Parts: sequence; C-alpha cells; structure tokens
Amino acid sequence: MVLIPKTKNLIIFVSLILAFNAATLCNGGITSRFVRKLAAATDMPLNSDVFRVPPGYNAPQQVHITQGDLEGEAMIISWVRMDEPGSSKVLYWIDGSNQKHSANGKITKYKYYNYTSGFIHHCTIRRLKHNTKYHYEVGIGHTVRSFWFMTPPEVGPDVPYTFGLIGDLGQSYDSNSTLTHYEFNPTKGQAVLFVGDLSYADTYPNHDNVRWDTWGRFVERSVAYQPWIWTVGNHELDFEPDIGETKPFKPFSNRYRTPYKASNSTSPFFYSIKRGPAHIIVLASYSAYGKYTPQFKWLEDELPKVNRTESPWLIVLMHAPWYNSYNYHYMEGETMRVMYEAHGFVKYKVDLVFAGHVHAYERTERISNIVYNVVNGICTPVNDSSAPIYITIGDGGNLEGLAKNMTEPQPKYSAFREASFGHATLDIKNRTHAYYAWHRNQDGYAVEADTLWIFNRYWNPVDESTSATA
Ligand SMILES: *[C@@H]1O[C@H](CO)[C@@H](O)[C@H](O)[C@H]1NC(C)=O
Ligand SMILES: *[C@@H]1O[C@H](CO)[C@@H](O)[C@H](O)[C@H]1NC(C)=O
Ligand SMILES: *[C@@H]1O[C@H](CO)[C@@H](O)[C@H](O)[C@H]1NC(C)=O
Ligand SMILES: *[C@@H]1O[C@H](CO)[C@@H](O)[C@H](O)[C@H]1NC(C)=O
Ligand SMILES: *[C@@H]1O[C@H](CO)[C@@H](O)[C@H](O)[C@H]1NC(C)=O
Ligand SMILES: *[C@@H]1O[C@H](CO)[C@@H](O)[C@H](O)[C@H]1NC(C)=O
Ligand SMILES: *[C@@H]1O[C@H](CO)[C@@H](O)[C@H](O)[C@H]1NC(C)=O
Ligand SMILES: [Fe+2]
Repeated sequence: MVLIPKTKNLIIFVSLILAFNAATLCNGGITSRFVRKLAAATDMPLNSDVFRVPPGYNAPQQVHITQGDLEGEAMIISWVRMDEPGSSKVLYWIDGSNQKHSANGKITKYKYYNYTSGFIHHCTIRRLKHNTKYHYEVGIGHTVRSFWFMTPPEVGPDVPYTFGLIGDLGQSYDSNSTLTHYEFNPTKGQAVLFVGDLSYADTYPNHDNVRWDTWGRFVERSVAYQPWIWTVGNHELDFEPDIGETKPFKPFSNRYRTPYKASNSTSPFFYSIKRGPAHIIVLASYSAYGKYTPQFKWLEDELPKVNRTESPWLIVLMHAPWYNSYNYHYMEGETMRVMYEAHGFVKYKVDLVFAGHVHAYERTERISNIVYNVVNGICTPVNDSSAPIYITIGDGGNLEGLAKNMTEPQPKYSAFREASFGHATLDIKNRTHAYYAWHRNQDGYAVEADTLWIFNRYWNPVDESTSATA
C-alpha cells in the first residue's frame, strides 16, 4: 500500500526537516559565560598621562614605525613636530656599533575642516640587517628623542615569529588596558597586526583631529619600538561632505604609511608583506573590490605568487568580518566574501583571517560557504579543511563599547565567542605549528582565555583539536 501523507502529516514531516536543519546549523561552539562589569567605555580626557606632549622645543611626538618593504629590510619611521617643520633626518645604528647612518624623509601637512595638522615626517630607512637591534633618533636640530626596534629574521619557513593582534583600539580607559595587557603579556609580540579603526577621532564634533594626535601619543609607547601593520577600517574614512571633507582617508593617509608599492599594489590600503614565516595580505573593506577593480586585480595576481615553501603561513587582514554571529554589522562583509572566498581564500588555502569592526571576540571552525549559486539555494557554512579559521578581534576597547547582543543559538561554525575587551597573540613555531591565544583584559597578563594549536594548511592540513576554555 502506498502511503500518501495527509496535509497534517506533511506539516509534521516538514517541521521535522526544519528542526533537523536547525539542529545541524546551531549549537556549535562555546559562548563564554564570563561575567564582566557593564561599565561604558569612556575616552581618556585630553589631560591624561598617556597623551602628554614630550618636553622640549619642537620635540618629535607620535613616533611610529611600520615595515617599509616586502621582506623586512626597511622600516618607515614617522613622527610629528608641532612648532616648525624641523629636520626630517633619522639617525640609526646597530646596537653596540658607533657607526651611525642617516636618512632623510619628507614632510607633509593637511587641513581638515578648521583643524591644521602639525608637520608630519615620514622617512624610510633601508638595507637593514635581519634579526638585528637598531637604535634610531628623530628630532635632529631641536629636541632629539631615541628609540629602538628589532628587525625580523630573514624570510623563511621555519623561523619562529610572534605577532600581536589588536583591532578597533580607540583611546578609552579600556584601550589603555588592552595595550597594557599586550605589553605585559609574557608571550612577547614582535609586531602588531592591526585590523583597522585606530583613533575614533571621527566620533568627535567635526571629526576633531586633535584626537588623531592624542591617539598617536597614546600608542607611541608600543609602535615606536615595534612595527604595527596597518589595515584601514571605516573610522579611517573621515568622509564628511557636510563640512566639505570629501577626500576619503585624508587624516589616515597623511599620518600613516604602508609599503604598498613593494607588493605592486596601486593603493596604500591593500598590499602584502612577508615577515619571518608569514605572508600577510592586507585587504581594504572600504575600497572597491568588485571584479575588474584595482583591488580585485591585485589580489588575483598576488595569491598565485605566495610561495608556501618560503612563507608557509598565509594570513589575511581586513576590517569587516565575513563570519560574524553577533547582532551587529549584519552581513557587511558578505559581498566581499562572495567575491573572494572560493577562488581566493579556499583555493589558495589561507591559514587565518583576522578582522575587527564588531566590538567583541569570535573564532570560527575551518569553514566555507562556496557551494551556493543563485539557483541551488545551498548556503550553509560547512566544515572545510582547505578553508581558513576566521577570527574577529575588534575588541580593543574603543568608546563605542562592547557588542554584547549575540544571535541565538550560536551557529555551529562559531567555535568560541565572548563580548570582552582584549587582544591576541599568534606564536608561529615552524612551518607546521602555531600557537594562538586570546587574552581578556579582566584577567592577569599571563592568562589565556581562548587557545588553539593551529596547523598549517599547506604543510600540515590535519584537523585542529580545540583546547578552548570558557
Ligand atoms: C573648530 O570649530 C569648532 C566649532 O565649529 C570650534 O568649537 C573649535 O574651537 C574650532 N577649532 C579651531 C582649531 O578653530
Ligand atoms: C594607562 O596605562 C598605563 C600603563 O598601565 C598607566 O601608567 C597609565 O596611568 C594609564 N593611563 C590612564 C589615563 O589610565
Ligand atoms: C612587481 O612587478 C614587477 C614588474 O612586473 C616584477 O618584476 C616584480 O617581481 C613584482 N613584484 C612583486 C612583489 O610581485
Ligand atoms: C619558493 O621558495 C623556495 C625557497 O626560497 C625557492 O627555492 C623556490 O624557487 C621558490 N619558488 C618559486 C616558484 O619562486
Ligand atoms: C565540523 O568540525 C567541528 C570541529 O572539528 C566538529 O566538532 C563538527 O562535528 C564538524 N561537523 C561536521 C558536520 O563534520
Ligand atoms: C538584539 O538584536 C536583535 C536583532 O537585531 C534585536 O531584535 C534585539 O532586540 C536585540 N536585543 C537587545 C537586548 O538589544
Ligand atoms: C614544530 O613545532 C611543534 C610545536 O612546537 C613541534 O611539536 C614540532 O616538533 C615542530 N616540528 C619540527 C619539524 O620541528
Ligand atoms: Fe569598524
């Protein structure tokens, strides 16, 4: 006898399928039960210790460094002088040597609404030796200030290297706590991968650019001594036609430089560098990325050039996350995901993708969502051993506060999520293993709140075992 379901049975049958689907989609990972105090994030006032102007006539301030070439043999040194342009010279020497080298930079200056910047200096020093401590001096002619940095080891597959990860930092008391935790973390980061949204000056009336200056002074204590690799976020746009400011990224572009030409990029907002065992691709969520655009064409050329024998770890930085299970910035990263996921990140086996924008922390399983086309309707993220792990680390502590509202239940692809401020470290050991740890600000400096041994997709493409603790 053929069983023909009555309407009622059919409804039950359909509901069962739906329930089954919900069960496979949801209740995946850990939503941390950590309880934090619910205080708003408040910006540090202008007279805070961290914003103090260094003493002395025309003293250089807001000193910051970033990698200046493809392989880490150059450094871009930047600083601001307020009283007069002064010399753009950098003196530098190897630790213990008395042979001083010198290089000359360039000066830039900009206006934003009724704000006029100081004299912004950028100087690239080149032909540095790898794995070497350098001292440098800026402010020549007036008030000289001295700093130092370590160059990275020569690019190669088994040179250990430790990156710090910070996003959406801003300049609140929580931002200061995040930076302090990064500095005192016993896992010493050697360079910071910064995933965008620096000063949040744009949240002030007329984007008060004085808050770009205070931010520069605040982070100097880290970024004058180790390079921060810059990604741009929406708070770098500073696009405000109402007050006549129609050139996107004007303050950021004048103040922060990236070595984009070294990777044949035509824009400072997307580029790549090699550093130790890693090939790092920086993408721009707020520059055109559709087919035939400069960013699309650059990435299309760039991905096949990544040599995993030389640089086993392929890491991507961007601002707007592709996989985000918080109730904020709904699907903002979706169009870029559709453009780049299948033929880019999965095809070329990207190890890790770091993003910010959502002010919380989240780590996914290795997943992709690349089967969907406009007729088949198959659009569920699935486990994929060729796909990256996606980490949202927009929890630097800016004044906008935490993203606490999560979608419920937690989607299956989300391995760990928590709305707390913090930072992370990625400790690359060799071509097969890296140790990743996320730290929340409420804990002691050495406490790791979410950890994972990450296995390289090219050399060691086996499943990671989650050792997360909530
Ligand atoms: C810029 O304009 C605002 C009001 O529009 C004013 O409060 C501020 O003092 C001005 N700043 C400068 C540097 O003139
Ligand atoms: C910021 O943190 C540093 C280092 O922990 C501390 O010395 C300083 O007083 C803090 N400043 C503010 C305004 O909280
Ligand atoms: C940039 O382009 C030039 C000219 O085509 C080429 O020689 C060089 O290898 C390219 N550099 C990179 C990093 O791809
Ligand atoms: C990749 O890097 C290795 C190690 O440096 C080198 O021997 C090899 O020639 C490179 N491959 C390509 C295609 O450039
Ligand atoms: C996907 O991977 C996670 C973590 O390895 C695992 O817990 C889960 O069972 C996997 N799901 C499927 C459908 O294989
Ligand atoms: C959380 O977000 C959802 C979806 O946007 C919304 O419906 C809900 O009201 C929010 N809850 C709170 C407490 O803000
Ligand atoms: C790579 O590092 C991991 C973790 O430290 C270690 O267990 C493994 O033996 C190392 N591999 C090689 C080839 O040294
Ligand atoms: Fe953002």
